[in-house]
Amino acid sequence: MTVKNVMVIGAGQMGAGIAQVCMQAGYEVLLNDVNQDALQNGVNKIEKLLQRAVDKERITEADKSKTLGRLKTSTQIKDGGHCDLVIEAIVENMDVKTKVFRQLDEIMPEQTILASNTSSLPITEIAAATNRPEKVIGMHFMNPVPVMKLVEVIRGLQTSDETYETIETMTKELQKAPVEVADFPGFAANRVLMPMINEAIFAVYEGVATPEDIDTVMKLGMNHPMGPLTLADFIGLDTCLYIMEVLYEGFSDSKYRPCPLLRKYVKAGWLGKKTGRGFYQYH
Ligand code: CAA
Ligand code: NAD
Repeated sequence: MTVKNVMVIGAGQMGAGIAQVCMQAGYEVLLNDVNQDALQNGVNKIEKLLQRAVDKERITEADKSKTLGRLKTSTQIKDGGHCDLVIEAIVENMDVKTKVFRQLDEIMPEQTILASNTSSLPITEIAAATNRPEKVIGMHFMNPVPVMKLVEVIRGLQTSDETYETIETMTKELQKAPVEVADFPGFAANRVLMPMINEAIFAVYEGVATPEDIDTVMKLGMNHPMGPLTLADFIGLDTCLYIMEVLYEGFSDSKYRPCPLLRKYVKAGWLGKKTGRGFYQYH
């Protein structure tokens, strides 16, 4: 199957990045968000990053205009009825995601592939909310999308080989490296990454060291580009907590218990960089 038109649902930090890399690879993109301000912020971010590429002489002004010409926006999912592929990048919550997938299943033509950028939720369960489970797949990009090369491609129980191959081919066209991963909580990336971040939060909680010092340990000691607490703020503490809860429930194993300090920060609305406060303050 050939993909030409893509609808990206959710114009937050992931959705805007996914829309941008699709536009740059020549796909026509409809970016959707329920929130008009979020939609505009997403567009502004894409324009800013393309302008930066012009300033650095990586692309021309004409390339920028051509790329932006491939972008349309909408707050109504029904406007995407012509799309061959939907990539959903909304909040990491099963109830909210299944509601959107049910709606998509009703609106979209039967050949349209429905992909989720979920960080950790079972693709099989998302697929079961539709009447086309063979066309539902996980397409897990990493943050920041324009920079990070990996996409985990997750097969649900009933994902067809054709759907898998279409997404694998498209991932390569986006200049990303696909890795096939089975449908287990947290897949591979967050199964490994998120317990490390959670452990770093426990270390702060128990007074082992300050956030700055724990980040320094991991940056200078392990050559990580960002320390785990900076990375947690960058990902979003709400998303980190959702992922830990998926691991905790999915494996019924106390080793995945979310740190109480993470819960407290999320309850306080300290969601990291996106709200201006997390383990660090942003101005
Ligand atoms: N969006 C787009 N581009 C960005 C960006 C952003 N938020 N932040 C940085 N960049 C770009 C910069 O524009 C720059 O590009 P140019 O060379 O074209 O100018 C390039 O990245 C390097 O940026 P900087 O020199 O400013 O900073 P850096 O060298 O420290 O790199 C980084 C920034 C790439 C983000 C690096 O710190 C890094 O790799 N951090 C770790 C990121 C990571 O682990 N991501 C995975 C998170 S987990 C996940 O995504 C899965 C999940 O489900 C939660
Ligand atoms: P975000 O909070 O930055 O953006 C989510 C956007 O979705 C918001 O703009 C919100 O208005 C919109 N939205 C919510 N419900 C909607 C609906 N019903 N229809 C349309 N739009 C809706 O979140 P994010 O960090 O971009 O994460 C999005 C998804 O990507 C989550 O599933 C997350 O787990 C996953 N993910 C996040 C990261 C990360 O580092 N943040 C990395 C990989 C995957």
